Amino acid sequence: MTEKSKVNITDTSLRDAHQSLLATRMRLVEMLPIIELMDRVGYHSLEVWGGATFDSCMRFLDEDPWERLRQLRQGLKNTSLQMLLRGQNIVGYRHYPDDVLVEFIKKAVANGIDIIRIFDALNDLRNMEKSIYATKNEGVHAQGTISYTISPFHNIDYFVQVGHDLKNMGSDSLCIKDMAGLISPYDAFELVGRLKNEVGLPVQMHCHYTSGMASMAYLKAVEAGVDVIDTATAPLAMGTSQPATDSMVAAFQGTPYDTGLDLELLTQVSEHFKEISCGYEIPREVMGVDTNVLKYQIPGGMISNLASQLAEQKATHLLKEVLDEVPRVRADLGYPPLVTPSSQIVGTQAVVNVLSGERYKMVLTEVKNYMRGLYGKPPGETSPDLQKIVLKDEKPITGRPADLLKPQLEEAKKEIAEYIEHEEDVLSYIIFPSVALDFFKRRKGLLPPLELKDGCATGNAVNHKNDGKNKTQNNLQLNLLFHVDESLIWFDENNLVYPVA
Ligand code: CO
Repeated sequence: MTEKSKVNITDTSLRDAHQSLLATRMRLVEMLPIIELMDRVGYHSLEVWGGATFDSCMRFLDEDPWERLRQLRQGLKNTSLQMLLRGQNIVGYRHYPDDVLVEFIKKAVANGIDIIRIFDALNDLRNMEKSIYATKNEGVHAQGTISYTISPFHNIDYFVQVGHDLKNMGSDSLCIKDMAGLISPYDAFELVGRLKNEVGLPVQMHCHYTSGMASMAYLKAVEAGVDVIDTATAPLAMGTSQPATDSMVAAFQGTPYDTGLDLELLTQVSEHFKEISCGYEIPREVMGVDTNVLKYQIPGGMISNLASQLAEQKATHLLKEVLDEVPRVRADLGYPPLVTPSSQIVGTQAVVNVLSGERYKMVLTEVKNYMRGLYGKPPGETSPDLQKIVLKDEKPITGRPADLLKPQLEEAKKEIAEYIEHEEDVLSYIIFPSVALDFFKRRKGLLPPLELKDGCATGNAVNHKNDGKNKTQNNLQLNLLFHVDESLIWFDENNLVYPVA
């Protein structure tokens, strides 16, 4: 612990922070005025793209996600830009074929991404391998990710092994991704120390504040030699978001870990985000501290999803039962970490189990596909009873799921030839077909533009839950819960839903 003890900061304000607290609704126009100043701060990187931002841009904001990236790149000439990639799921909710994945990474880099953080919900390395390889091929930084969770199956040895495997696949660094804010300070200390000593790659820590332990976990991780921590500007920090940049920088000032960042500049950054946050309503359920997450293992964003699914069914009173059912379903599925898309799959099956009054009386298509191995290999053993119900005599696949997928690029180019204005459009279309098509039509003037509310001007929060529209969607039937597709994840305009990572 000598001169190498300085801690670096990745600021997530332009991606994860508003995904976690503002339902991913921050617009490019709200970012542009501050990025030149942010560019002077000296962050290790800014996380600006990927996760749910891609979907949200087209679906809610009438923005081309690629154009957002280009403009951010233009204003952030000195800062590395980072994105979150869901491995073979790219920025969507299902597996995509390799030709699409490789092209996506190529275009992400061409448009300005320097660091790609790659994860898989099951820590199945086969689902990350192609992404890491393609990222390296484009000459940028591939960060291999360990999705952190707690279960009888997961322990520090397991995570260290994943670290070794990610290194062997070519990762330049490792990320400990604690999407539900579960890691305790002492576990963080042990895991970081062992990864640093035994794997030997730089280690970055990504925690959410949900249980209230994240800044303590960072402190211990820093003492164990972590290289980078993920934080968010103070007005968009804590709750289900990251610890505050400002506080973490202040905490290490004058110590061997000093980040070297200027608190004065950071205060100006905070001022900006404080001003724009007048246009948003941060719901109570994503702020504050909730140690129940340790018991239920449910990330904050997912609790909002469950609550809104139940509200649609007029069954809010069953929330406690559903929360109790989630860990049982998770156990039946071999303890997957709960992160997109496993969080949606487990959560929705738990809702169905409770609402239908009998466990697995009805089984989601996604659960069936999961049991068939189509999302990858479950971390632990799946329940033999559930295997019997779902698979009968069928054997799960043992290979890499994406090997079953046919190339899609060329076909898709033909399908939307009349709408293509940029080469990237075909990728937007393959990942979110109907959302992208609507977006292209609006761009061409074939559909009216989305009504974008300016919260600060009107006093109406842009993500306000109840604007009186879409009341017809309140009578959804149980069968609509049967597909974990985009419309379920983004239930409707009246309910805020939060994809987890
Ligand atoms: Co996150």
